[in-house]
Amino acid sequence: MASLARKLRRENKTIGFVATMGALHEGHLKLVEEARQMCDIVIVSIFVNPAQFNDKKDLERYPRDLTADAAILSGYRVDYIFAPDTEEIYPAGFSTYVYVENLTETLEGASRPGHFRGVATVVTILFNTIRPDFAFFGQKDAQQVAVIKRLAADLGFDTEIVVVPVVREESGLAMSSRNALLAPEERLKAAIIYQALREAKIAARNGERNAANLAEIVRRTIETEPLALVDYVAVVDNETLEPVDKIGEKAVLIAVAARFGSVRLIDNTVLNRRQ
Ligand code: PAF
Repeated sequence: MASLARKLRRENKTIGFVATMGALHEGHLKLVEEARQMCDIVIVSIFVNPAQFNDKKDLERYPRDLTADAAILSGYRVDYIFAPDTEEIYPAGFSTYVYVENLTETLEGASRPGHFRGVATVVTILFNTIRPDFAFFGQKDAQQVAVIKRLAADLGFDTEIVVVPVVREESGLAMSSRNALLAPEERLKAAIIYQALREAKIAARNGERNAANLAEIVRRTIETEPLALVDYVAVVDNETLEPVDKIGEKAVLIAVAARFGSVRLIDNTVLNRRQ
């Protein structure tokens, strides 16, 4: 992959990169479409990264079907699929990890210790291998976006991070590979997360500036659904992920995690100045 990418750069091709763990859905395909529009060459990686799973069971049950994923991508004019084995990414004796301070211990990091260390490490390895001009990530994983932007800036990667809006199912539920693990009723009811975020957005538009009140609106709305168990609702600065008290000039992220049965879902919305 590295020598191929080197050859492409020598030919002055712009390289767009979409990192995935497979189990592709429309959210990933939106990233691919965006990359296709912006770049000469589109590379998609498919690698279920063991380093970002703190729960062994979660790693084991993560859906894997390279043939199906490749078939899906065949309709999207992808130039290369990079699907390395675990030993290629983490050869024997591997012992170097990337840790992004401050951004990684809260929100998702709080309930998934080591998760962002795994993400940051694999993304660094993939960026080093491919050295893309543009890399595309989904806004659904807002904290991951903040972490990757930080690491790309701090480690001097010559890669622009392009953030693509959340793609939703018809019900409003954010697309995620985990949705396939929901029972049909849970999948339907999980749309309450999006409704809750919309309620908060409407309240903010109507003048609610108090972060705790907005968080409460989200929590209470989700809790109207008996199948849902709220893990957290956080109102934070969109860049630093520091908690905010009042909605002010800077963009604010409302981030949610909730469980439906054994499946943990996340979603978010960003309030900017006008909202
Ligand atoms: O968002 C994901 O699917 C993963 O965290 C990523 C970025 C592919 C790294 O393994």
